[in-house]
Amino acid sequence: MQENRSSKRFMTNVINFANQISALGKRNCLVADRALEVYAKELALLIEAPLLLVPRGEACKTRLQKEAIEDFLFARSFGKDSCLIGVGGGSVHDLVGFTASTYCRGITFVNIPTTLLAMVDACIGGKTAINTSYGKNMLGSLWPATLTLMDTHFLKTLEPVEVAAGAMEMVKHALIADAKYLEELLTGPVTDLDLIQKSIVIKEAICKKDPLEEKERLLLNFGHTVGHAIEAYFSYAISHGIAVGFGMKVESALSYIQGWLSKEDYQHIVYVIDALSNFTLPFTPEPHKLIEYMRRDKKALHGIIRVSALEKIGKPKAFGGSFCTPCSEELLSKALSIIF
Ligand SMILES: NC(=O)c1ccc[n+]([C@@H]2O[C@H](COP(=O)([O-])OP(=O)(O)OC[C@H]3O[C@@H](n4cnc5c(N)ncnc54)[C@H](O)[C@@H]3O)[C@@H](O)[C@H]2O)c1
Repeated sequence: MQENRSSKRFMTNVINFANQISALGKRNCLVADRALEVYAKELALLIEAPLLLVPRGEACKTRLQKEAIEDFLFARSFGKDSCLIGVGGGSVHDLVGFTASTYCRGITFVNIPTTLLAMVDACIGGKTAINTSYGKNMLGSLWPATLTLMDTHFLKTLEPVEVAAGAMEMVKHALIADAKYLEELLTGPVTDLDLIQKSIVIKEAICKKDPLEEKERLLLNFGHTVGHAIEAYFSYAISHGIAVGFGMKVESALSYIQGWLSKEDYQHIVYVIDALSNFTLPFTPEPHKLIEYMRRDKKALHGIIRVSALEKIGKPKAFGGSFCTPCSEELLSKALSIIF
């Protein structure tokens, strides 16, 4: 009975979403993660839009898939008055948002996040990107969605590993902004709407303060210098959020080794990450290879690796008004060897 009511609400939301998209008055085209095919077909029908399905997850964030969307639009004479709607997780968000930002020098972008990670993180702040063989998110733009339509019903079909991946970005928000929120996440469940909303509020506030990522917004990269290297090392076969979880452990270890973070806080961070994401890597990564990837990270300056750091749980470390600091490869090796 409860499931029936819930399904009915889900269907109502498709209609509600279709109405909101139609109200924009654009010529619509839908791009969806293949896992969301049934839902996307329903929505495409309601808004009378052609539908293009892309490979599941990270595999869609390529130049080839961007070109495929562009050609799909060109072949149907879509122009400047078009709207690209992305249905999927953070990967579809990044691909579709980036394509919308360059097609006809920029068209309307609507986003329907279907993973926890996309709801609490990727759909906020306007960053879009695709990967290249030279690294993660190496091509991209700042192109916020005109409309984001959210329904937590999507989370019911997520694999546990994808729930854990989303939880890791929520942990990041707690670590850089709100110690109490970290304890609330531990109690969970992390898919609780109140907890999702807390993450959204934290990320929105940081992005609003520093939209161009010159100061505070750099904090949102906590765990990502190492996390992106881990993803690239495993050829994107592991979830972004899981890699960020390991990245946060290493970057917390770095803060601890440098004497900025207490031993108690460092140990508690590792405990919370392990409690919310007990997924292992396929095998132990080689530190020197991870460091090679980190040298190519977008935050690196003249090949010098940079990371964000913590002073305590909920309080980031500032470096002369910025929230990112150069880090020696020797220290990084030490922190990597503590975690791996
Ligand atoms: N733009 C930003 O600010 C930002 C922020 C954080 C992360 N990201 C990016 O987001 C990406 C990761 O996104 P993600 O964690 O959402 O994963 P994802 O989009 O890669 O999807 C993960 C898996 O979940 C499946 N999936 C999606 N929705 C589902 C549903 N409702 N039910 C069942 N399965 C479903 C997908 O098919 C895929 O297999 C990374 O590429 C990362 O770089 C971007």
